[in-house]
Amino acid sequence: MYRAPRGTSDILPKEQAYWRYIEQKVVNICQLYGYERIDVPAFEDTGLFSRSIGEETDIVQKQMYTFEDRGGNKITLRPEGTAPVCRAYLEHGMHNLPQPVKLYYIGSIFRYERPQAGRYRQHYQFGYEAIGDDDPALDAEVIDMAWQFFSSLNLRHLSLILNSIGCKQCRPGYLAALKSYYANYIHDLCSDCKTRLNRNPLRLLDCKKPVCQQIADSAPKSTDYLCPQCDEHFKRLKRYLGLLEIPFEINHRLVRGLDYYTRTVFEVQPEAEGAQSTLGGGGRYDDLIEELGGRPTPAIGFAAGIERIILNLKQQDVPVPTLPRPQVFIANIGDEARDEAIKLTARLRKSGIGVIEAVGDKSLKAQLRQANNLGASYTVIIGDQEVKTGTVILRDMTTSQQKTVPSSQLEGLLLG
Ligand code: HAM
Repeated sequence: MYRAPRGTSDILPKEQAYWRYIEQKVVNICQLYGYERIDVPAFEDTGLFSRSIGEETDIVQKQMYTFEDRGGNKITLRPEGTAPVCRAYLEHGMHNLPQPVKLYYIGSIFRYERPQAGRYRQHYQFGYEAIGDDDPALDAEVIDMAWQFFSSLNLRHLSLILNSIGCKQCRPGYLAALKSYYANYIHDLCSDCKTRLNRNPLRLLDCKKPVCQQIADSAPKSTDYLCPQCDEHFKRLKRYLGLLEIPFEINHRLVRGLDYYTRTVFEVQPEAEGAQSTLGGGGRYDDLIEELGGRPTPAIGFAAGIERIILNLKQQDVPVPTLPRPQVFIANIGDEARDEAIKLTARLRKSGIGVIEAVGDKSLKAQLRQANNLGASYTVIIGDQEVKTGTVILRDMTTSQQKTVPSSQLEGLLLG
């Protein structure tokens, strides 16, 4: 027997109400904030991701699904959505549109990770990007949108974690300070951090090993090394968030797992701590478009994992609307009744009434049980007698009351 590959799952019908609920909220919030939908391919040239996300990140080093296709092209299943959206922005000349260009997406993301609750090899993200402006008011709007999105889902007890990691002018000074701080602890660090120290020192700050966390707690803070422009940008962002009454917590260890970030980085986290718990994260990436061959174009965005949102909705017992089911079940007894049932099913569906028709040779009792299990509001029963008289038996499944009515009046009764 085949099983779904490790780290992937089937989204069964009983789960779909959560997915539709979230999609609906996504569409609502994006409309409210003026974001338009974009769908990008599930795979891209490998170079797009290694260049954007950064050669030294876990994603590029350990997690990409990369293969050579039959034409000899090096392809990677998308491990995130920002780089493809930037590629599309450039490819379609969106810099000629009024800026910022605001785009959102929902789609599957592939990362070869060690699967556990909240961490999968294929997951789905909702994300959005605002490309073409560096105004901190845009940062505030992007953060506000994430905050309002979670609140519209009725998720509670979330925190917003914020940091600024500077730009290419001030970052080198900060990295130098980090390196010299960590040089004192080189023997205490985990083996991963020892190698990261020279290649990507920012990464040391978000190492999850307890010993490294302790060292990181007292490490120099990026916000103490910001250049005047980044400092001003961060101050204004904090002021705007205050105006929007969005509570935030500054955490100097928040650096995010992708290398393209500049200045603002942020995450939305639920109460339960843990690496797999972050609901969503984002930040500015002012150099990425240029890195991909465009003109200097500042941008900011955010993405959230849909499976993690669902885990939280369930943990918090948030009720989600049930999906509509066909209203009517049509049961039949006998060959002539079967012919009539086939015609009636088609007739009702044409009038927009959802119908499930009994198939096979089940007893009436079994057919009624099936109607009950399907949650039909009404069962229409047709037997030989009804065929002869042009009637049907209409059974209200909630009250179990039934009455004989002319078949021709069914639409009126069901729609009325
Ligand atoms: P990210 O933090 O790597 O950011 O992923 C965003 C969210 O996707 C995470 O907060 C988490 O909820 C979910 N997620 C990530 N990996 C997994 C996984 N293996 N299993 C389940 N859920 C997962 C980005 O991808 C950036 N592109 C976000 C962004 C947009 N930055 C700017 N614009």
